[in-house]
Amino acid sequence: MCGVFATIGTKENAGETVLEGLKKLEYRGYDSWGIATRVATSSPTTMKGTGKISEVRTSFPNGTTSIGHTRWATHGGVTKKNAHPHTQGCVTLVHNGIADNFEQLKKALKNEYSFVSDTDSEVLAALIDHSLKKNKYKNVVSAIRTATKQIEGRFALVMMIEGVDGIWAIRKGSPLIIGKGKHTNYIASDIPAFLQHTRTVNYLDDGELAKLTSTSVEIYSLINGKKVAKRNIKVEWNEEQATKDGWPHFMLKEIIEQKETILRTLEHSSTSIQKFVHTMNKRKGAYMIGSGTAHKAAMVGEYLFAKVADRKINVVQSEEMSYFERFIKSGTAIVAISQSGETADALEVLEYGVKHKAKILSITNTPSSSIARMSHHHLALNTGIEKAIASTKAMTAQMALLLLCAYTDGPGISYGRTLLRETGANINDMLNPRYSKHIEKIAGKIHKHENLFIIGRNSLYPIALEAAIKIQEVSYIHAQGFAAGELKHGPIALIEKGTVCIVLGSDKETISNAIELQSRGATILGIAPENNDVFTHWIRVPDCSEAQPIATVIPIQLLAYYLAIKRGLDPDMPRNLAKSVTVK
Ligand code: G6P
Repeated sequence: MCGVFATIGTKENAGETVLEGLKKLEYRGYDSWGIATRVATSSPTTMKGTGKISEVRTSFPNGTTSIGHTRWATHGGVTKKNAHPHTQGCVTLVHNGIADNFEQLKKALKNEYSFVSDTDSEVLAALIDHSLKKNKYKNVVSAIRTATKQIEGRFALVMMIEGVDGIWAIRKGSPLIIGKGKHTNYIASDIPAFLQHTRTVNYLDDGELAKLTSTSVEIYSLINGKKVAKRNIKVEWNEEQATKDGWPHFMLKEIIEQKETILRTLEHSSTSIQKFVHTMNKRKGAYMIGSGTAHKAAMVGEYLFAKVADRKINVVQSEEMSYFERFIKSGTAIVAISQSGETADALEVLEYGVKHKAKILSITNTPSSSIARMSHHHLALNTGIEKAIASTKAMTAQMALLLLCAYTDGPGISYGRTLLRETGANINDMLNPRYSKHIEKIAGKIHKHENLFIIGRNSLYPIALEAAIKIQEVSYIHAQGFAAGELKHGPIALIEKGTVCIVLGSDKETISNAIELQSRGATILGIAPENNDVFTHWIRVPDCSEAQPIATVIPIQLLAYYLAIKRGLDPDMPRNLAKSVTVK
């Protein structure tokens, strides 16, 4: 949800460095871009445009300091004037997040500043400039603190101030990580932006202000203005994880990687998983939250805990949890499932939980993320960086870890481990080039349809919902998932001759639902361990008993990928979406 990246050093190629780094953050937004560059403390030169940062080939004026942005529009349409950086007075800034009260702030500042964009970000530049002006640019820390106190919402800001040395950055709810190099420092929304330059990082926490120069990093508390000491942390990520490695798209690469990533969840020690489950169970009630695909993984977890451990978990979409917040008490456990660990909706629930002394548990792909760091207990997915917007390998790892948790709570983790090992081996056999070709061929037959329906029951119901998300987001086909038994209560009215319906599973009840669809003219694509006469097309999946959702989602991911390709779309960068949604 917008990527920000800035660097300050002694060489004069800061603009190019920021451009290259922003290209690695494109998954956070790609509707427009902008970079401001300057030498020393001079006024910056800003270049912006609409479109994808990956397509920018511009060269930049010499500069030792540069700040840049790749945008996912929130306030103000996708236009050049709304692209960041924004300048007001002496302040040039880039912004990730939302200032909820920007209209009120704008009203108060409108006599002093004229605004050229429709963004909340430009108002923040004016607000900070106004605050600096008031103390005659003497005490930058104090001026930024005063201005920040007036901003409501979650955000990260990175700025430079004309006549003042350094890059200044504030974190309040949206991620910012500092990379420390030799005679050059960096700050970004995510580590890949500077990974090729340094692996030494400082995580900025909420309520902190950072000042970077080429040789120093100073961090202050926004609450009391005092300096905060930070530990240098070495990150383990390797750059290859962030490249396509010969694959045409990240999405396909990440689907195939599932041969290994699912099994990587087995690397967690039994003690660690037992501790996680024990903490969950000791509590009076457990809520499991997530958004989008992560929410569907949580729903699979709900079925697994019920079946394997005889326990009912409350699964709620993070976005809806605020309506149940009053049930969060000191005896509650909240389990957040998230790939990025930065989703604003989940973070807000957890912040409420912390305030009310709930136990916070999480499963994320980013152990350094905000969610992971605020958790009492965290389990890492260990899948490596997931770059495609459509989440694939993170979801199967989420389900794999939840399966291990459910078995830990039920008959014992060793049963879960054995099942997962067998499932991993089956998926390894399944994911071969012939299999992909078969799915590509089916995609070729159905890609012109504008509506697709998917049905599944039991733990394949959340997979039907996930199938709809995958197909919608990358192929733009209108797809809807239903509980198979729910069909007769409404959705069946949508079926007419030739409507394509995807049926997950070949159990008796689901087949009889498939027959109901076929009798109304539907063409059935079955994704199941066994073929059936009712299927016009069949994609085989291995029989994996309780791990069936993990195996079943993979051909759906491939189908969504090939549907996008057949429709001439880029599956890595679907319109209107962003990988990490750090705004509400
Ligand atoms: C965005 C992404 C989805 C993802 C969801 C939750 O909408 O496009 O793929 O499932 O956010 O993200 P999280 O990082 O919390 O799993």
